[in-house]
Amino acid sequence: MTKRTIVPARKVSGLVEVPGDKSISHRYALLAALANGRSEITGYAAAADCQSTLNCLKRLGVRVERSSGASAGQVAITGAGLDGLRRSRRTLDAENSGTTMRLITGILAGQSFDSTLTGDASLRKRPMRRVIEPLTRMGAHIVARDGNFAPLKIEGAALRAIHYTLPVASAQVKSAVLLAGLFAEGETSVEEPVRTRDHTEVALSEFGASMRRTGRTVSITGRTPLQPRKVAIPGDLSSAVFFLAAALVLPESDLIVHNVGLNPTRTAVLDVLCSWGAAIKIVSVHGESGELVGDVSIQHSPLTGGVLSGAVVAQLIDELPMLAALGPYTERGVEIRDAAELRIKESDRIAVLAANLRHMGAHVEERPDGLRVEGKGAGRLHGAEIDPADDHRMAMAFTIAALGAYSPSVIRDAECVAISYPDFFSVLDRIVER
Ligand code: S3P
Repeated sequence: MTKRTIVPARKVSGLVEVPGDKSISHRYALLAALANGRSEITGYAAAADCQSTLNCLKRLGVRVERSSGASAGQVAITGAGLDGLRRSRRTLDAENSGTTMRLITGILAGQSFDSTLTGDASLRKRPMRRVIEPLTRMGAHIVARDGNFAPLKIEGAALRAIHYTLPVASAQVKSAVLLAGLFAEGETSVEEPVRTRDHTEVALSEFGASMRRTGRTVSITGRTPLQPRKVAIPGDLSSAVFFLAAALVLPESDLIVHNVGLNPTRTAVLDVLCSWGAAIKIVSVHGESGELVGDVSIQHSPLTGGVLSGAVVAQLIDELPMLAALGPYTERGVEIRDAAELRIKESDRIAVLAANLRHMGAHVEERPDGLRVEGKGAGRLHGAEIDPADDHRMAMAFTIAALGAYSPSVIRDAECVAISYPDFFSVLDRIVER
């Protein structure tokens, strides 16, 4: 287990690229596996989670070619059509990846064979009833531990189309139902309380599925064959946010993040930071396989902080750890409400944020659905030993918070960043000046 010392820094500057978007990578891999022929993906995420999706697909008989080293972003996947997956004799392992487990469950529910799907200790504690429930309504047979947790035993079944209203705003649940809808006769629709990331809808359209959107309802007509595609994946904005935050923590910073995904269902974090006073500019936007891509520039600027609550919380879900850890660097502090979902991510992110921020000297009030972190008035952070609870986003958020502290910090089990960003520390080292 690696401990990583984080020495306070003066600024971040220069040009940086982040690895391919994790959410989009999962979706392209899954759809390529169901298409008729060979798809070529460039910019496939370096994230361990996205390798978990490829590993599951290989076990389901899909031909996956991925080079190692510098070309690891190039992945070729040869699908054999909607009915081309084969039964895996071994248990499929989604490891730490909730997206892999929930999306693949949607696909496996509609197969003519049975599957067993498991994950690591963290994933086996995360709720799966949220996908089991709508899929069961579609005719799926899924048995889970206590009706809610992996391992999942999925008996393939003929599915029927449904109209489903999501009780929680979750792109993973929406995606599981839409992917199951690919295998159902007729039109399956999902209505969401708040618009969540729409990469599944965009990717399904790109691969030739018949999709329709009206307001907050998205529909798919089942059994339309998918076509193989050549697709390029933009950089992951959720990874870029750590570097943007570093620029806001460290005075004199001036940074450009190149080639990053700017899908409007993901950019709420940029709106929030701008509304807090961050000098962020978006330059050279273009479209790529239905997704927006561009460069984001940022200059150090003082932040007001503020309250994050209501509908926007679902659109900031992966960025909330970093936004909370920015609290002590803001004028008024940061308050997060309506975010109980944070407690059932890779860790209990509310508890882990509160505990580690307090270790660094921050004043924090923890609440069932969020937390309040006092601003600069409560004093400057000092270094501390941080336990990220094996959660990649915690390790990265506290690394950035530690850069602005007045004494060094240690991040325990720092290798957990590999879940989304294996090169995080080496890229950070390249842009940091001490
Ligand atoms: C994701 C959706 C979100 C997010 C996760 C990735 C996706 O999860 O937190 O990191 O790719 O669909 P929920 O659907 O549980 O909100």
